[in-house]
Amino acid sequence: MVCLVFKYASISAAVLVGLYAGLLGLLTTSSFQAHVVYLHKIQMTWFKDLDIPESFGFLRCQTTPFSIKSPTGGMLYAWHILPIELYRQHEPALLAEPAGFALNITSRFGFKLLRDEPDARLIIHMHGAAGTVGSGYRVPNYRALSAGQPSKIHVVTFDYRGFGRSPGTPSERGLCLDAIAVVDWATKVAGIPPSRILIFSQSMGTAVNLAVSEHFALQSPPIVFAGAILVAPFVDVPTLVATYRIAGSIPLLSPLARFPVLFNYFQTFIKETWSSKDRIAGYIRANEANGETYRLILIHAEDDYDIPSHHTEVLFWHAVNTMVPRGITYEELEEVKDKSKRDLGAAGSLMEWRTENGVVREEVLKTGLHDVVMGNPVVTMAVMRIFEAVDPSFN
Ligand SMILES: *[C@@H]1O[C@H](CO)[C@@H](O)[C@H](O)[C@H]1NC(C)=O
Repeated sequence: MVCLVFKYASISAAVLVGLYAGLLGLLTTSSFQAHVVYLHKIQMTWFKDLDIPESFGFLRCQTTPFSIKSPTGGMLYAWHILPIELYRQHEPALLAEPAGFALNITSRFGFKLLRDEPDARLIIHMHGAAGTVGSGYRVPNYRALSAGQPSKIHVVTFDYRGFGRSPGTPSERGLCLDAIAVVDWATKVAGIPPSRILIFSQSMGTAVNLAVSEHFALQSPPIVFAGAILVAPFVDVPTLVATYRIAGSIPLLSPLARFPVLFNYFQTFIKETWSSKDRIAGYIRANEANGETYRLILIHAEDDYDIPSHHTEVLFWHAVNTMVPRGITYEELEEVKDKSKRDLGAAGSLMEWRTENGVVREEVLKTGLHDVVMGNPVVTMAVMRIFEAVDPSFN
């Protein structure tokens, strides 16, 4: 009897190892990697129509679905979301508008409220892997983004190529081009100056955010936005796969990470590295060299089971290491943090690093998971902190 149990146990263990080996084999192919990194085929809004934002809890004509042309020809599906107090002020005019997808967004009243109001602010939202603009905690996230100044803060959110209704296949370069196209839409079509634009991002979106922020900072003349918020960012894909758990539970490569030789070999197959650690450094280096003002806020919950908060600590170190002219080691920074980190008790801890030009802020929360945190007041505060730093009268 006991023998039998052992026999079956060993058979199923062998099957599991076999399945895992098969998964690893698949993972070395770039198309499967794309599915694992972007999870773009997992929509999570299957039974709802994105063209009916009311079904996601918005008021009639509060959110306008429209599209932005991507540089490679495809259309990027987007939502323009009005903040609630602005909506209240203009409710009769908005109710008189046609609902649903706008073929020509510039003809919509809501768009004019964004373009023609010199005090309007715009948050460009770059979402994480999987899903669409309407998935999960993204809708409460949009509310939190504008809650601090609900008559002025608009949100534009979009699906990258291959996600939701945006055609195509995701890739590192493609996603960056898409996000750049959305920023160009904001500055050129909506006519919002960079000082009134903030880029918010979560999870995979943080990598897109840093790539785009660095891209614009490197232009001549440089273009630097009011600031960037990174919720649950990661160092790069090779570091991420060592710890990532799909849906917080299925380990991807962590079993392999125990065998460094095998793991390093496997990492050589990762073609798209999304190196946020290099991009955060490149962004800061460019701004320091150009004397441009920059503001970055990194937020991460300690109970994030998808991406451990250690990623934020490492990214923060890469940022500070660039801000300090002679550099600083991770251990040295830890010592400084031990002395000057602000302890907020059950809310977590806070550390800020400033130069004459910029500020990078690290907020490590005790709770918030990977995505719930997006809808929490800490996000509203981060937005207001950035907009108020640009213009103290914005409060
Ligand atoms: C879109 O609407 C605006 C404002 O109503 C108008 O000026 C413009 O010609 C329209 N564009 C197209 C392509 O129809």
